Amino acid sequence: MMHSWILTNVLAGLLSPAVAGAPIRIPPPVLPGMDHLKLDRNLEGKYFHEPVGHEKGADDRLGHYDTRYFHGMVTDEERVETLHHMVRAYLDFFRENQLETWIAHGTLLGWWWNSKLLPWDWDVDTQVRDTTLVRLATEFNQTISHYVSADKKYKREYMLDINPWAYFRDNGPGHNIIDARWIDTTNGLYIDITALSVFDPRSKPDQWECKNHHKYKTEDLFPLRETSFEGVVAMVPYKYQEMLLEEYSLKSLARINYEK
Ligand SMILES: *[C@@H]1O[C@H](CO)[C@@H](O)[C@H](O)[C@H]1NC(C)=O
Repeated sequence: MMHSWILTNVLAGLLSPAVAGAPIRIPPPVLPGMDHLKLDRNLEGKYFHEPVGHEKGADDRLGHYDTRYFHGMVTDEERVETLHHMVRAYLDFFRENQLETWIAHGTLLGWWWNSKLLPWDWDVDTQVRDTTLVRLATEFNQTISHYVSADKKYKREYMLDINPWAYFRDNGPGHNIIDARWIDTTNGLYIDITALSVFDPRSKPDQWECKNHHKYKTEDLFPLRETSFEGVVAMVPYKYQEMLLEEYSLKSLARINYEK
């Protein structure tokens, strides 16, 4: 199958006078549901911006704020509170709109330990399928979601912003690997949302990848398991334990040894 695919491309290249002699350029994989955007890859700039923070003496933690809503570093207390409500609002919003999402990376590790974020977390990572990303892009881009906590004491507005460069599913220039963000509009802290695509449906139909080259098998992810995170319903990948072991050391999951 692979061979015949390459051959077809080679033949197409040879037969087309326009590209005779030129190397055959395989176009980047794209997301069909977003081709209304008509993007020119040569003009790809970074979409999400963080406060300038990588020059001498600046603080790494600045990278966890979206520039548009950043007014200064928050206290640890405000960070913990912000992330807690941000996650709850996000998970509820996705659930209410029947948008599939699950928690990933360091956030999944926090879930594993205590069904909550870890106290030192600065941001939150979630994943979606690329088909969900298309729905986000076409139905929910720039949605402002109003949130009131159960005790009515905490009010926030979150902005869901979809990166147009998510249309291209390869790494590209490397600065648009985050496909979407759920941003606290009072201080700029955010949830990073990345989509997974099957890049090579012909020869690797069960391999999902994000733009940052994390790879997963269909059976590692699906069916998602329903659980709770920060006190609300959440989904995690089917083989969460194997996935955590692969991404983090056994030491980060030491409870496996003690409990089993
Ligand atoms: C989302 O909206 C912003 C602001 O209008 C726009 O710049 C961006 O291209 C949009 N994203 C998508 C995926 O359409």
